[in-house]
Amino acid sequence: MSATTAVNENTRSMMERNVSMDKTSALEMERQADMEAYKTIGSPLVKDAKMSARNVNVFYGDKQAILDVSLDIGRNEVLAMIGPSGCGKSTFLRTLNRMNDIIPICRVQGDITLDGEDIYKSNQDTVMLRARVGMVFQKPNPFPKSIYENVAYGPRIHGLAHSKAEMDEIVENSLRRASLFDEVKDQLDKPGTGLSGGQQQRLCIARAIAVSPEVILMDEPCSALDPIATARIEELIDDLKEKYTIAIVTHSMQQAARVSQRTAYFHLGKLIEVGSTKDIFTIPQHQLTENYITGRFG
Ligand SMILES: Nc1ncnc2c1ncn2[C@@H]1O[C@H](COP(=O)(O)OP(=O)(O)O)[C@@H](O)[C@H]1O
Ligand SMILES: [Mg+2]
Repeated sequence: MSATTAVNENTRSMMERNVSMDKTSALEMERQADMEAYKTIGSPLVKDAKMSARNVNVFYGDKQAILDVSLDIGRNEVLAMIGPSGCGKSTFLRTLNRMNDIIPICRVQGDITLDGEDIYKSNQDTVMLRARVGMVFQKPNPFPKSIYENVAYGPRIHGLAHSKAEMDEIVENSLRRASLFDEVKDQLDKPGTGLSGGQQQRLCIARAIAVSPEVILMDEPCSALDPIATARIEELIDDLKEKYTIAIVTHSMQQAARVSQRTAYFHLGKLIEVGSTKDIFTIPQHQLTENYITGRFG
């Protein structure tokens, strides 16, 4: 019997003995017991952290989706998050720029900092936060506007350009950094939605870059793309890490291995193991990590 199972059995028999115990405290006890039985293996913390999550728990109503996760994202590193579908990768990613705030039943506990500052403080401007911690989604989602306007949108609402010439420069630089400029420079006034899937995703990256973020969160950014478009994005991620800190969720272990320096493995809401990407893929310490990376489940 594993430690977790033993503790759970214990909790269950205690619960059966005490029939008067109310449902909430029974659930809470089971949760506590579950948490005591698990500790992330590896090195979740780093010396030079850009973002730090400490003891993060996330709930959707009564259901807990993230259990006591502590994890740093190092400055200018690419951190990959992997794990079976439904293990909480997107949920955890969204805590890093408070995108969970817009899901009414979602509740986040714990501490999350950006350069040491609490991003959940009550006077935090979330629009500003999401400019500093940008996000790129699974499905490319350009606005129904021109290519130019897709990129200019953020800088405009944040007042980053003082003239048309300055805006032109921001748009061109962002498109260049997203490795898209040469392909679209003669059609900046055409709709962003008319581009190919891979170009649309690079446009979304350009849009995120345009407001000068410090961190870019990517949630399976290539899952809707073909292998060639995927390769372009992966090359781009490698360039981007010179300037930005990147956390990427991916269901592709090959992709995690190609683009990241550290990898975090999640299972049923828990951060099971984290370490250098090389170590996670060659000498995983936890059985669950090994099962996943060897394709035994997931
Ligand atoms: N908006 C939501 N409302 C309720 N439950 C959700 C919501 N989003 C995710 N969940 C639940 O939280 C758990 C983690 O989901 P998710 O973070 O999407 O996992 P992953 O990205 O690893 O596939 C799952 O059990 C999922 O059903
Ligand atoms: Mg997801």
